[in-house]
Amino acid sequence: MIDFNSYANGGITLIKPYQAGKPIEEVKRELGLTDVIKLASNENPFGMSEKAKEAAFKAICEGNLYPDSNGYYLKHKLNEKFGYDMDCITLGAGSNELINLLFQAFVNKNVNVVYPEYSFVVYPMETTVGGAEGRAVALKADYTADLDAILNTIDENTRIVAFANPSNPIGTAVPSKDMYEFIKKVPKTTMVVIDEAYNEFNSGDETYVDSATWLKEFDNLVVSRTFSKAYGLAGLRVGYMLANKEITSILNRLRAPFNVNIAALAAAIAALDDEEFLKKTVDNNTKERERYATYCKEHGLFMIDSKANFVAIDFKGHDAQLIAKELLQKGIIVRPLLGYKLQDILRISIGTKEENDRLFNELTKLLETI
Ligand SMILES: Cc1ncc(COP(=O)(O)O)c(C=O)c1O
Repeated sequence: MIDFNSYANGGITLIKPYQAGKPIEEVKRELGLTDVIKLASNENPFGMSEKAKEAAFKAICEGNLYPDSNGYYLKHKLNEKFGYDMDCITLGAGSNELINLLFQAFVNKNVNVVYPEYSFVVYPMETTVGGAEGRAVALKADYTADLDAILNTIDENTRIVAFANPSNPIGTAVPSKDMYEFIKKVPKTTMVVIDEAYNEFNSGDETYVDSATWLKEFDNLVVSRTFSKAYGLAGLRVGYMLANKEITSILNRLRAPFNVNIAALAAAIAALDDEEFLKKTVDNNTKERERYATYCKEHGLFMIDSKANFVAIDFKGHDAQLIAKELLQKGIIVRPLLGYKLQDILRISIGTKEENDRLFNELTKLLETI
């Protein structure tokens, strides 16, 4: 047989497939459980906004038609709501697709990519696919990105420096004022990619400004956003990327013509209008994140300071993998981080109060027995 691996482009054969959180149905089937909750993929615990649901149902009735390839009405809504220039927006089937496209467009074997250690796994994956050198920069002791060390790692061949802010799977964030000063110092030849999948949950930074407002000042800035988290549309797959017109035009040439489906476009527009749902989501998250911090303090666990809709808990002294397995037996799916080589840490998505109570109860029982 022909060795098709040797035909594959770039570094595709060097990467492992993305490991997603276990689906609820799979856990029910495998363990014979009926009541399973998933606190593993940072989804919205309140489901979808009713307004978005209604818009998606309506749109599905026109499923025989291709969607608007340019997503005019969603871009228009983003412009109306936040003032973003429509020519600077690329829409994607989730922000993951847009990150992939950006890397496909700009990363190759002649360049390197810099990112903080324990970054969202897609950055190192796409760097490898492009045949580029990936440079992971160690975090500071408080698990935040070390901006000075990152600047020192960037050289004339650094095509992209990529951050998730707040980060995933760690959850820490760089304050706006520090990010702004950092971008100013990055050479203009390096693209600064700020992945803001968890932006809406990043409360408490009194210096916060919408980083997209810096696009006018920095030609090399790229900002990525998603409807998967705070807006509750993970299953519909829709996100957007903001960049200068030239970069946007390149991404638009590369993307598939109808990459965002008709239901996702309609739901995203409606979700942007449902401010009440967004507020309920963010308020619950802020309140419950505080409860996780209190729980961890009371139970001698170390929770990394989170600005996102999940918490990373260091179970040092306990077997985190065993805890994840036992929680699964109780119908609670959490996320081990072995893929990130963080074997003592579990990432737990913040759920509703009831879901979190269930986790606290089961975890307390487990901590007493193991
Ligand atoms: C930091 C970060 N960026 C991007 C994504 C991709 O999300 P989506 O493709 O659903 O927009 C995720 C998903 O978990 C993420 O954690």
